[in-house]
Amino acid sequence: MPLAAPDPSGVPATAWWVLYLRAAEARHPRSLLPDPLAADVLARSGWPARETFGPPVPPLAQYLAARSRVFDDEVRSFLARAPHGTVVALGEGLDTQFWRVDDGRVRWLTVDLPETLAWRRALLPQGPRQDTVACSVTDPRWAEGVDPAQPLLISAQGLMMYLPWEAVAGLVTLCAERFPGASLVFDTVPHWVAALARRHVLYCGTYRLPPLSSAMSPGSYERLRTLHPRIAGVRRLPWPACRGLTGLVLHHGQRSPLVRRALPGMVRLDVRQP
Ligand SMILES: C[S@@+](CC[C@H](N)C(=O)[O-])C[C@H]1O[C@@H](n2cnc3c(N)ncnc32)[C@H](O)[C@@H]1O
Repeated sequence: MPLAAPDPSGVPATAWWVLYLRAAEARHPRSLLPDPLAADVLARSGWPARETFGPPVPPLAQYLAARSRVFDDEVRSFLARAPHGTVVALGEGLDTQFWRVDDGRVRWLTVDLPETLAWRRALLPQGPRQDTVACSVTDPRWAEGVDPAQPLLISAQGLMMYLPWEAVAGLVTLCAERFPGASLVFDTVPHWVAALARRHVLYCGTYRLPPLSSAMSPGSYERLRTLHPRIAGVRRLPWPACRGLTGLVLHHGQRSPLVRRALPGMVRLDVRQP
């Protein structure tokens, strides 16, 4: 059956947008994120991404690749500590992270909306250590199949901004409640970005991002600690060195608390044992 074309105004289409830009960044001679599978998936889909999203915007492509690099590093260091661990990738979309970081032992669970998962299942290989759950991350059913006794890293890349704050808080609380010892890694956008998207004026090239429901400045990450008494660690994850203007803004800008407040950010929460 042919794949249903994504509605460009909907949130699931953002999975294609990120894939498209990561594939563009992967072609750069000094790419931040070698990702041959991303380009391959895009080509095989036959989907006219360029017509929908316009030509790739290089600083955005680099920003998304830098974000993925940080998430990849988090997974790699988790697997170095816990080689038989499980990674739960919430809102994983069409990300090819599994193939970038696979150590041959990790167990992987992808949770995403049914529409997005239908594309993922059609376009990406599915191995015996990979599983999928088609539901909203706000539905606690996804957590039922996760063994809380195994070392666990839960990642949510490019997801939380599409959820209202109450849902973000609910998700963090669920993870803290159910998964002692786990870590949760996610990224945030600052308030000015969410405000532009709410007014439908956040254009990335010719693509208009769907409204973003929540925002958080890296300066307020400490507030996440108050969501559950088991949240023991709150750590802002720094932006890696990037090329050109992106590097100037993200990597160098983050050194100033004032600039940092206005930047997108990434955070890791560590849940302690009861
Ligand atoms: C910007 S994309 C990011 C995809 C992927 N994490 C990446 O970095 O390539 C946002 C993803 O979140 C998913 N998503 C949005 N709201 C969701 C929800 N309530 N439950 C599950 N997935 C959701 C979308 O379907 C999409 O795959």
